[in-house]
Amino acid sequence: MSSIPRRYHITTFGCQMNKADSERMAGILENMGFQFSEDPNQADLILYNTCSIRDNAEHKVYSYLGRQAKRKLQQPNLTLIVAGCVAQQEGEALLRRVPELDMVMGPQHANRLEDLLEQVFAGNQVVATEALHIMEDITKPRRESQVTAWVNVIYGCNERCTYCIVPSVRGIEQSRTPEAIRAEMEELGRQGYKEVTLLGQNIDAYGRDLPGTTPEGRNLHTLTDLLYFVHDVPGIERIRFATSHPRYFTERLIRACQELPKVCEHFHIPFQSGDNDILKAMARGYTQEKYRRIIDMIRHYMPDASISADAIVGFPGETEEQFENTLKLLEEISFDMLNTAAYSPRPGTPAAVWENQLSEEVKSDRLQRLNHLVSIKAAERSQRYLGRIEEVLVEEQNTKDPTQVMGRTRGNRLTFFTGDINQLKGQLVQVKITESRAFSLSGEAIPQPALV
Ligand code: SAH
Ligand code: SF4
Ligand code: F3S
Repeated sequence: MSSIPRRYHITTFGCQMNKADSERMAGILENMGFQFSEDPNQADLILYNTCSIRDNAEHKVYSYLGRQAKRKLQQPNLTLIVAGCVAQQEGEALLRRVPELDMVMGPQHANRLEDLLEQVFAGNQVVATEALHIMEDITKPRRESQVTAWVNVIYGCNERCTYCIVPSVRGIEQSRTPEAIRAEMEELGRQGYKEVTLLGQNIDAYGRDLPGTTPEGRNLHTLTDLLYFVHDVPGIERIRFATSHPRYFTERLIRACQELPKVCEHFHIPFQSGDNDILKAMARGYTQEKYRRIIDMIRHYMPDASISADAIVGFPGETEEQFENTLKLLEEISFDMLNTAAYSPRPGTPAAVWENQLSEEVKSDRLQRLNHLVSIKAAERSQRYLGRIEEVLVEEQNTKDPTQVMGRTRGNRLTFFTGDINQLKGQLVQVKITESRAFSLSGEAIPQPALV
């Protein structure tokens, strides 16, 4: 059919989950014969994979969409799709707001893109947001990187943090089987990928929904068991996982990370607030004391592990003193990296309708103060690398200096050093660290002894 568009463009907003979904959807489109177009204005099919975690993330998509909706007036063959979390949140309302749209599809429908598109090409306006058992995707994702890859292990989230939109847009937890995960990693190993990040919104929940228990009555499938099951996949040199939840984090998991050489010494465990009353209002299910015990336990087994987290400031009712407890936690734990955000009320979440909302001024003032401390702490943590030799997995050329390459240490610090990307891409290089900044390092490659 000559009317079928042949060039596609995808813009992705939001988290790694969305990026992984986009890569699978791009794979499906290429399998259907579409070619990637960097420029949306050259494309016949445009897909926005959207994020709704905060108000500003949601609004970004409307401005992008407005421009393309106008273009569609001149080019009626243009296919316009909104996927992801805003699509799930808004559903049909999005079609009313932007009538030029051809399709609104929630994250659980990503793997069904081909079926859904057939309905669009048959002339329908499609809304796909009903809850769904996620099918394994049989096409190959079109991945951004040739070195590192994301592998979903659990979709959805069963938590009910009072500020968070994710459970309502991503649905209930659905774990993939260990066999499907291992098979995807083996394929990645064959294709030359070196690093895999296992993904889940609450990755510690992995396996809860899969059948089977051990003789002791424990779930047969946990994240720890999964790490043992996949750690020897040929070709994959490094394994990471995110995001950990303090409520479910176990000592068994830390011991597995210590024992398994491919699992990197980096933990991403959001704490959200350093104040117990705020944690309770957020329904996070732990106290700051419990959080500190987890970090102590990690540092007991792996003293040098890097630790990152997320935190929210200006949650409804947060007093100055409660905010200072968050600063105190950061000060005392010294995170390698902390993602911070001002609280943003999200539709349908409990905290959004509470009356004790804080003003934008208070929120942005606290955010600035927290960010200031984040850079100080990150710079301090970076300094421990000075003079050391670190293993760096080379990913790309340094975009600001083509004589350099960039990669990451096992602790996930971005690292630059002089070298030729054509020779070094995908290589694990020993690098002597000579310069440290808050969020990155520079160094020199140590000459490798010639292989005999
Ligand atoms: N599943 C992960 C994080 C998911 S969302 C966890 O449980 O930690 C990523 C981050 O966005 C969260 O850690 C939180 O810090 C932030 N976030 C989520 N909802 C938010 C909101 N309504 N306002 C501001 N930040 C929010
Ligand atoms: Fe949101 Fe909480 Fe689930 Fe994380 S654990 S995705 S913050 S509801
Ligand atoms: Fe955003 Fe959805 Fe991820 S709301 S942060 S893209 S799960």
